[in-house]
Amino acid sequence: GAPVEVDISTLNPGEMKTVEWRGKPVWIIKRTPEMVASLKKTDGKVADAESKRNPDEFTPEYARNEWRSRKPELMVAVGICTHLGCSPSSKFTPGPQPSLPDDWEGGFLCPCHGSTFDMAGRVFKNKPAPDNLQVPRYMFLSDTKLVIG
Ligand code: FES
Repeated sequence: GAPVEVDISTLNPGEMKTVEWRGKPVWIIKRTPEMVASLKKTDGKVADAESKRNPDEFTPEYARNEWRSRKPELMVAVGICTHLGCSPSSKFTPGPQPSLPDDWEGGFLCPCHGSTFDMAGRVFKNKPAPDNLQVPRYMFLSDTKLVIG
């Protein structure tokens, strides 16, 4: 598949944009400072905090950090659950909500078998999904434009 260019100039903090790449949805999320800070709190609750599992498939070198991204404020991930391929839904609002723990910090919930992911796409412990969400290959062409693939 061809690389996909994405204009992120209109993306506000807390907003998400989905583009299609190789037939898959890719999420681009402008994280708020609170969302970035939430990753420290979820560090101890996720199964693979440092993205060491299958890094060649799921986490390119530039995303092997706490944010799993090139820039802390911008999350880029394939929106497909690593369990059986459902599409998780965004649950950005922290706090208790149906099917989510009381100490929820914001992230994603897979409707199929309940896997939850944090604001870096890291899967929480004891969930059916075996891996963190895939970070695709991408780079910035400018501050407001990136290319995926
Ligand atoms: Fe997502 Fe099973 S497909 S938890």
